[in-house]
Amino acid sequence: MPPEPGPEPDALTRVRAFGPGRVNLIGEHTDYNGGLALPFAISQGVIVDAAAVDDLVIRAHALDLGEDFAFSVTQREREHGWRAFVIGMAAELEALGVDIGGAKLKIGGDLPRGAGLSSSAALEVALCLALLALAGVDADEPGRLELARVCARVENEWVGAQTGLLDQLASLFGEPDAALLIDFATLAVEPVPLRLCGWRLVVLDSAQRHEHADGDYNKRRAECAKACELLGVQTLSEARPSAALQLPEPLARRTRHVLSENERVRAAVSALRDDDMHELGVLLSSSHASLRDDYEISTPAVEATVARLLDAGAAGARIMGGGFGGYVLALFAPDGQPPADAIDVRPGPGAHLLVD
Ligand code: GLA
Repeated sequence: MPPEPGPEPDALTRVRAFGPGRVNLIGEHTDYNGGLALPFAISQGVIVDAAAVDDLVIRAHALDLGEDFAFSVTQREREHGWRAFVIGMAAELEALGVDIGGAKLKIGGDLPRGAGLSSSAALEVALCLALLALAGVDADEPGRLELARVCARVENEWVGAQTGLLDQLASLFGEPDAALLIDFATLAVEPVPLRLCGWRLVVLDSAQRHEHADGDYNKRRAECAKACELLGVQTLSEARPSAALQLPEPLARRTRHVLSENERVRAAVSALRDDDMHELGVLLSSSHASLRDDYEISTPAVEATVARLLDAGAAGARIMGGGFGGYVLALFAPDGQPPADAIDVRPGPGAHLLVD
C-alpha cells in the first residue's frame, strides 16, 4: 500500500518507547544451546515515537533510512528488512490478544545496524512497548519474559533469523551497574553486580556488517541441532564432553565451544564477584579464541580489530554477538588507553517508556 499522510494523531495517545542494545560480556552462541550468558543492556538503543490514529492503518517511518511503510492492521503479507519487524510485531501482539489499532510510528535511535550490539532486538522491544502502550496494555501484564518470546518470534518467523532469546532478555531485563546471568535451560535471569572500579569496557567497530537472516548464523544453529540429534540430547549444554568429542567435525568443535563457553561464563561470574578484572580479561580472550577456532565465526576484519585492541594494551578482547563482523568488545585497565574511536559501554536500564 503506498504510504499516505493519514489522519492526524490524537494528542492524548502518544508514547515514546526505548529499547536498549546490549553488550554480551561473555557466553556467546550458548542461548539456543540451553547454556549460560552474561549480557547487559547499554545506553544506546532504538526509540519508537508512536501515536494512535483512528483508521486501521499503521504508518511507519525509519529515520536513518528515510523510508516509509504503511499497512492495514489486518494485512499479514511477508515483508523484508525493517518492515518485517513492524508488520511481524503487530501480528504477534494481535496473536497474544492485544487489540492493535492504527498508528503512526517514527523509528530512530543511535544504535548501528548489524554491528553485534543487537539492533534487531532493540527495535523489536521498542516497537513492542510502544504498540502495547498505545493499546493500553501494561508491559507487566504479559510479563517481560513473555514479551521476550514475542520479540524472538518476530525475528524467527517474520525476519527469518533463527536467533535465541539472549538479546531480547538483555534489552528487557537490563539493570544499571549489573550484568545479567541468564540460564537458558530455565530462563532464570540473575543480576550480577558489575563494578568497573576505573576499568573500562569498550567496543570498537570492525566496519564489517552482517545479516543473521542471511545464512551463516542459521547454519551454526543447524549444526548444533544436528549434534544434539546424534548425541540424543535436547540441548548441547546437556552433552557430556567425552561423548561430544566423538562427533564428526565440525560438530565436535561446535560442541566443544558451547561446553567450554558455559564454563567461562561461570568463571566470569566468580571473577566479577571477586572484583578480579584481570581474570575477566583472560576469559574474554579465551572466549574469542574458542569462537574463532571452534565456532569459526570470526573474519579477517574482526581479527584485525582484536589485534588493534590488544596492541593498545587491552586486558582481553573478543568478537561479540552472532559474529561475522560487528563491534569487538575489550577490557582496559584504569591506566589503559583504548583507541580514540572506541566507545565506552556500561550497564544501563532495560527497555522502558520515556516521558517528556
Ligand atoms: C545473536 C543472536 C543471539 C545469540 C548471539 C550469539 O546476537 O541474536 O540470540 O545467539 O547472536 O551469542
